[in-house]
Amino acid sequence: MANLGLFVSVEGGEGVGKSVFTRNLIAKLEAANLPCMMTREPGGTLIGQQIRTIFMTPPDGETIEPLTELFLVSAARHQHVLKIQDNLTRGTHVICDRFTDSTRVYQGAIGGLSEDLIERVVATSTGGIEPDVTFFLDCPPELALSRLAQRDSLTEDGNRYDSGGLRLHQTLRGAFSELGRKFPDRIKCIDASQSPEAVLDQAWSILVKKLGDALDS
Ligand SMILES: Nc1ncnc2c1ncn2[C@@H]1O[C@H](COP(=O)(O)OP(=O)(O)OP(=O)(O)O)[C@@H](O)[C@H]1O
Ligand SMILES: [Mg+2]
Repeated sequence: MANLGLFVSVEGGEGVGKSVFTRNLIAKLEAANLPCMMTREPGGTLIGQQIRTIFMTPPDGETIEPLTELFLVSAARHQHVLKIQDNLTRGTHVICDRFTDSTRVYQGAIGGLSEDLIERVVATSTGGIEPDVTFFLDCPPELALSRLAQRDSLTEDGNRYDSGGLRLHQTLRGAFSELGRKFPDRIKCIDASQSPEAVLDQAWSILVKKLGDALDS
């Protein structure tokens, strides 16, 4: 059965504003009386949330391997996509803070796992579900770092990549940009150095077209 809801993922490096944008987008959809659900990865389900805790805070003294990370996020994702699919089928738009592109970037470009392995595990864990549109929030690493510095590092959204420094942020940006070139129909690059309102406006103008297409089909 065709999905009635749109599946939207939000991607980009640390501190570019994904979580703020995701919340703002949900508020905008709600204001338009459109059924929607906000979710995130890793997480999205109770099991996924438990896996997120392992992923984000591995015990001191033990390094988490990229392959372990791949299986952890993929296990959480498998649980999650069932819930996402259920919502899409019922006509709820799903906005997901990070999804498979983060796996491609963090476990692939940064972790060094092969594209072939990642794509096979992604395909198996998702059953082939892909976002209808992915917003890649793109901004200079220096700006993302300064935003992170301002954000309370003890909040729940702080994470273990935050301290990675400029070089990591440059690598993240390059890897997400490359994915944008690889999947130009799905991934839409948004200038995240703008104000939250302008970021939302730019994405919304893309989304209304997709919503229109979905309503027409
Ligand atoms: N467009 C924006 N302009 C200025 N500040 C912003 C903007 N978007 C987000 N911020 C601020 O930048 C900080 C990081 O934002 P946010 O937590 O949404 O980033 P994130 O991409 O979700 O980070 P992470 O990858 O760590 O989850 C927050 O303090 C937030 O208030
Ligand atoms: Mg966030």
